[in-house]
Amino acid sequence: MAHADLLSRHRAVMPQWLALYYDEPIEITSGKGRHVTDGEGRTYLDFFAGILTNAVGYDIAEISDAIRAQVDTGVLHTSTLYLIRRQVELAERIAELSGIPDAKVFFTASGTEANEAALLLATQYRRSNQVLALRNSYHGRAFATMGITGNRGWSASSLSPVNVSYVHGGYRYRSPFRDLPDADYITACVDDLRDVLATATSGDVACLIAEPIQGVGGFATPPDGLLGAMKEVLDEHGILLVADEVQTGWGRTGEHFWGIQAHGAVPDAMTFAKGLGNGLTIGGVVARGELMDCLTANSISTFGGNPVSTAGALATLDYVLDHDLQANAAKLGARLLAGLRAAQERYGVVGDVRGKGLMIGIELVRPGGTDPAPEAAGRVLEEARRRGLLVGKGGLYGNVIRLAPPMTLTEAEAEEGLEILTAAIATVHGEVTR
Ligand SMILES: Cc1ncc(COP(=O)(O)O)c(C=O)c1O
Repeated sequence: MAHADLLSRHRAVMPQWLALYYDEPIEITSGKGRHVTDGEGRTYLDFFAGILTNAVGYDIAEISDAIRAQVDTGVLHTSTLYLIRRQVELAERIAELSGIPDAKVFFTASGTEANEAALLLATQYRRSNQVLALRNSYHGRAFATMGITGNRGWSASSLSPVNVSYVHGGYRYRSPFRDLPDADYITACVDDLRDVLATATSGDVACLIAEPIQGVGGFATPPDGLLGAMKEVLDEHGILLVADEVQTGWGRTGEHFWGIQAHGAVPDAMTFAKGLGNGLTIGGVVARGELMDCLTANSISTFGGNPVSTAGALATLDYVLDHDLQANAAKLGARLLAGLRAAQERYGVVGDVRGKGLMIGIELVRPGGTDPAPEAAGRVLEEARRRGLLVGKGGLYGNVIRLAPPMTLTEAEAEEGLEILTAAIATVHGEVTR
């Protein structure tokens, strides 16, 4: 009842393009660890973490205390016209962790703004508005970031300040090169990049921007090394590489701290947001110093890196590193992937299981082929929820279940989630093959 009432009020005043999950959408009213409780008193294990943003989980004392301490100073905001101690400390930490030489950091309030800032830097530095992006990408909801989003479902407008050309590679499952072995797949994508540069651009391209694992695109995971191989071509032309780490950063992929590290490349810039603040609004770009400093006009983000967000982000980063959550993501991610691959063998509705660490995609298809089955994904979402598990959805065709629990996930919770998911998949497989 509480949900139905709030839903009708939501529908009356919120845009209809702001999608809600579930036939009967829920309000999350409290959380602890990896569990959340809804407005009607039901508790769930959370395998989506507010779209990977509650990276450490709910009600984490160290993070809440750091935020509270800043609130208790009476200062929530000062603007960047004044020195912000926590902002400088956080920038120092991120610059060092980035592996980018002479790195500098600019903070924003969202991932969209982070990517807008990176595009501004790359296009000014290179004096070109030409940008390369991967098909099936998602980079945000402003005009430039929508302009480099290669997913019809998230491109509400074709207006764009950048001139974009798309290259192959991110989404292997539906790629024309899908059946090639890894090395040949990479060669085919690199050849395509060369071809796009020669045919679709007028030469001086500013940058290639890429998600190491495509988030909204359904946790599409290209072979390791792809972006590194592409960078060799970019280097021949002086084209910059920007890694969008909004989803893949902070150890979530398990093997590495940054997703791009799986590709053996050090990018010129990386963008980040989501998990850094464990729910606080913070994003940013870390870039080579000369690239960051190339702007000749003022630029500012009023809320970017404010005292509360940066205090919470520092505490989050400490927690991630002190508890080696990256190692936990690697261990439990491997367990989940193995369990889901076993389910894939039993149930033909599962076309692909992919990902790294605690970033796992399950692509649902019509059994016997690879036709996308978005209705099956919707049903798995509902069935998982009915059994007490929240998961996400995505993919070009809305047919991919996305798993991204808080990185503090325990072994018992991983097993519980796997059991629920397998049961949900089995039910839906039964429905579609009946
Ligand atoms: C890879 C990636 N980049 C950028 C964004 C945009 O971030 P925000 O929604 O904070 O603007 C998202 C959001 O989902 C994302 O997944």
